Amino acid sequence: MSEKARVEAEDMQSANQPVPHRAKHSVDSALTIADLKRRARRRVPKMFFDYADSGAWTEGTYRANEEDFSRIKLRQRVLVDMTGRSLRTEMVGERVAMPVAIAPTGLTGMQHADGEMLAAQAAEEFGVPFTLSTMSICSIEDVASVTRKPFWFQLYVMRDREFVQNLIGRAKAAGCSALVLTLDLQILGQRHKDLRNGLSAPPKWTPKHAWQVATRPFWALEMLGTKRRSFGNIVGHAKNVSDLSSLSSWTAEQFDPKLSWADVAWIKEQWGGKLILKGILDPEDARMAADTGADAIIVSNHGGRQLDGARSSIAMLPHIVEAVGDRIEVHLDGGIRSGQDVLKAVALGAKGTYIGRPFLYGLGAGGRAGVARALEIIRKELDVTMALCGKRDIRDIDGSVLDTL
Ligand code: GLV
Repeated sequence: MSEKARVEAEDMQSANQPVPHRAKHSVDSALTIADLKRRARRRVPKMFFDYADSGAWTEGTYRANEEDFSRIKLRQRVLVDMTGRSLRTEMVGERVAMPVAIAPTGLTGMQHADGEMLAAQAAEEFGVPFTLSTMSICSIEDVASVTRKPFWFQLYVMRDREFVQNLIGRAKAAGCSALVLTLDLQILGQRHKDLRNGLSAPPKWTPKHAWQVATRPFWALEMLGTKRRSFGNIVGHAKNVSDLSSLSSWTAEQFDPKLSWADVAWIKEQWGGKLILKGILDPEDARMAADTGADAIIVSNHGGRQLDGARSSIAMLPHIVEAVGDRIEVHLDGGIRSGQDVLKAVALGAKGTYIGRPFLYGLGAGGRAGVARALEIIRKELDVTMALCGKRDIRDIDGSVLDTL
């Protein structure tokens, strides 16, 4: 049976069978991010699982993000001392246990009740940055209330600049140590699954949506136990909002389609701290981003969720490093599903990487423990892969670990 047919068969079967409670505790037996994805599919209502697992239009760029990693080959080296290995490094001057941060993802608290709070706690414990999305379910203040170390905040720019200033102020008050400004989503790329599923947060109460929720009883029970079921950074803070439950109508109404480089300068000034520009996929844009004086850029196509037909992040990384690598720190997101992928990105010049879907699958599969498991899977793969390439310190990784024959 093909992987697709098997997953579909599993999906149909699981839609009719409530998941046993022990699924939550079985994340420790997951060996790969794909294992966590399968478990998340069984635990999370279809509309939210699909929201994470979707790209724009044909999903060609979404697929390319993953596929292009598998084309890059590593050099096997032997008889090199492998003791005392270290994955510790820095991202924008912050010490990280490995060069992997949690990416900002919308509606994370719909993969699991209180999802952003749980994921932030798992990241804190692990020693990697957690980035909270503007379009999160738990608010900035919720996440600050359950963490001790600073987290990062991702900003979308709305037409209502007073609201933007207010969000920046709240992120400062919460002690956030970096602002991640997203540049590639001022209008929303079309993801067919979300339209077909009638995605909203909280879910609408139609028979179709009720069925999706009813067949995921543990998700539903946990969701009943929290009051956080809508966009926590927005509700009670934004004015003149007609339909807050729908990401697509909120984006269309509120996001500023005129966002420009001048606005980036304004945001940099308002924020006054570490600034990371997310969504750079072109060397020319990378040069302009470096000119802003920001601290880092993230080579990204928004996980293949915006411009379908664009190249993968990993394919563009070397071009962008060549254009600006000596002027600004370069990070990458999109397609990372393993520690090998992280090593390849670092070898091609990324100082740091971000995982979105891998942590969401962990979260859906088993809450905080699932996110910890996703990080642990990637850490172990990265550590062993680095050693088998003959290296002991992630800071020594460069193009020499890649097979360019
Ligand atoms: C929001 O960031 C999305 O990609 O849906």
